[in-house]
Amino acid sequence: MNKTFALAVGLCLTAVGNAQTPRLGQNSIDEVVAAMTLEEKVNMVMGDIRDYAVPPTPAPGIPVRETPDIAKLLKDMATHQNTPLQLMTAYSQGRVMGASGDGYSLERLGITPMVYADGPSGVRITPVRPQYPGQEFYCTAFPTSTLSASWNPALVERMTTALGEEVKEYGVDVLLAPAINIIRNPLGGRSFEYFSEDPYLAGKMASAYVKGVQSNGVGVSVKHFAINNQETNRNGVNVFVSERAAREIYLKAFEIVVKEAQPWTLMSSYNRINGVFASENDWLLNKVLRDEWGFKGIVMTDWWAEEDGARQVSAGNDLLMPGTQHQYDEIIAAVKSGRMDERLLDKAVANILRITMMSPTFKGYEYSNKPDLAAHAQVARETATEGMVLLENNAALPLGKKVRKVALFGVSSYDTIVGGSGSGDVNKKYKVSLDEGLANAGYKLLENLGTYYRGYIASETEILKQGANYGWSKPVVQDKALEKSMVEAAAKESDIAILTIGRMAGEGGDRKVEKGDWYLTDAELENLELVCEEFHARNKKVVVLLNMGNIMDLSGWNKLPDAILHTWLPGQEAGNAIADVLTGKVNPSGKLPFTVAAKYEDYPSAANFPFSNGTEAEVCYDEDVFVGYRHFDTFGVKPLYPFGYGLSYTQFQYSDLAVTPAGDGFDVNLTVRNTGKTAGKESVQIYVSAPSHPHTPKPAKELKAFAKTGLLKPGASEVLHMHVSKGQLASWNTLDGGWVVDNGSYTFMAGASSGNIILKETVEL
Ligand code: BGC
Repeated sequence: MNKTFALAVGLCLTAVGNAQTPRLGQNSIDEVVAAMTLEEKVNMVMGDIRDYAVPPTPAPGIPVRETPDIAKLLKDMATHQNTPLQLMTAYSQGRVMGASGDGYSLERLGITPMVYADGPSGVRITPVRPQYPGQEFYCTAFPTSTLSASWNPALVERMTTALGEEVKEYGVDVLLAPAINIIRNPLGGRSFEYFSEDPYLAGKMASAYVKGVQSNGVGVSVKHFAINNQETNRNGVNVFVSERAAREIYLKAFEIVVKEAQPWTLMSSYNRINGVFASENDWLLNKVLRDEWGFKGIVMTDWWAEEDGARQVSAGNDLLMPGTQHQYDEIIAAVKSGRMDERLLDKAVANILRITMMSPTFKGYEYSNKPDLAAHAQVARETATEGMVLLENNAALPLGKKVRKVALFGVSSYDTIVGGSGSGDVNKKYKVSLDEGLANAGYKLLENLGTYYRGYIASETEILKQGANYGWSKPVVQDKALEKSMVEAAAKESDIAILTIGRMAGEGGDRKVEKGDWYLTDAELENLELVCEEFHARNKKVVVLLNMGNIMDLSGWNKLPDAILHTWLPGQEAGNAIADVLTGKVNPSGKLPFTVAAKYEDYPSAANFPFSNGTEAEVCYDEDVFVGYRHFDTFGVKPLYPFGYGLSYTQFQYSDLAVTPAGDGFDVNLTVRNTGKTAGKESVQIYVSAPSHPHTPKPAKELKAFAKTGLLKPGASEVLHMHVSKGQLASWNTLDGGWVVDNGSYTFMAGASSGNIILKETVEL
């Protein structure tokens, strides 16, 4: 424990206990709870400092928190009954400046406060702190959650083991991550933080994420529970969703994580579900999460979800983040009037204490403030490469030996977007843009293009800075149309063109079906056409890189360049990671975690996503369970790139699919052979089609298992072993109100994507 902190605690906490007073860790949780006054219990379910809390604001809803004034708090001590608690909280905030919040403490019962910091791409804390001159607290910006495109849970676990070390070594107890809401629509502002349109992929990757972080003895908060799939009116939107779609699609990933990885905490979402706020939703938090899934941790609200405090706690939402005076008063009044059973409050406090006992702060862990950032940068780089998805490749990649001189186009090539905006942003020490990454890899870049772009970016950034206050969203400089003569000269002088198209998105807003967002701007399209024309006229290739958290419209232009590589938001090592894939140092093995539609209107949610249904107060999930590929495959809508799609620099052959009854379901084995000339990895997906049912329309197929080979040398093969339990084959039967595995034929399909099924085997149940 930091010395100043320890000293302050020792000096300031006027312990009122005596020898009989129980202490957390020495007595049972029940005894500790029983020793609390009503006021102390209510304090315990409040986060942050009530008196210093900023009132809730509309979306994006995140006020900037002030550094607590410790001197003022000390002065307040004499007059304020609860000051010792507040002081502890204030100190923990001062201890980890920029953390999103803390819990209360109660020294007389030995209860320490937990520190909560965002997630998910890294730890979000203040990197430079006035009270620690000369010290730095930077964190690694890892690739964002779309790292699910790696289809490699072991890799994700490795990355988050490193991330968890930063959580622990910076004195944080709980990382507010991962964010695992279903990517229902590509315009969702926070899609970059989320994992997939498919709950099984999201659940498996998120379980790996949680296991990695928690292996450090710190916790996570899996968020945002639940059915929070848009940013527009996020604090109030009422989502109408069937119980089947909720169970099979929107809650499924959470169910997998809770059962497989036992996250310490979960964060309830802001929205309403069929009329009831998630944080006040007894069905969601008590019945489904705790009674059915057996969740034992803390449920906390999302920040400033200031609904009725008594209703929230009664519904199973243990911690109000940050609690407000209003909520405090509400709970006290509700208990005193009998509207709320005090035992519900006791339960919430007990949940908080159980997790508190596991926390590094409670254990007095002496954190170093010196995580191994150099090693973590390497992990970030490796993880980023493995998620990149090669969408097109007409013999342009990997860059051949003859390619030495590169013409690099696009603002994002020189100012690569490495993460999204909002609470998922990370205060990193540096970022490597693509121009630096290519230079590091030994390529020569056309200098005049570099000079042009750097100058343009600098002057445009100045203009943007003087403009509106963008709050959380970070505006990025837009490309402008290039002079033909400049492109012509570049085509003559270089061996290849690389052009990056970037899109920024983040918390507090959804993207738009407009030029400059979903569509290319006129300038971007002109530049792309011009570059292709000039380079192709000289038999030189053009590679396009996508630098965004989700996707944009690609139809109409995706066949113009010779290759398209989706690089996502690859974290601080972006440029080096992209260069690794372009050069072939790493063979791309990422595959799409969502479907790329031929046109926006083809997405099943297009008709009822904000900006399209004319109302922001509510949204009806009319597509029901037919989200993503479940829609495209079932209704025969041809996507541009199917779910699970991604090319490699080599080819693979699948054989010997065997589905055999084993344990609680089926073992699924198959052999993958590298039949090409380059070493590579392949992700195999197992989809299952279920028998039809008169009242429960089934998707054409659903992902039930996946596995990735190791690095296979040319000619080498590997047998992949997977398992599908019978329980996984169930659908939610609305009439019976339960999970049902229907009798009939189930076809197991091994595919390289949902659109490329290679082997099949049918079993009877
Ligand atoms: C976000 C959460 C985040 C919290 C704390 C909220 O605005 O929705 O994801 O963890 O702020 O920063």
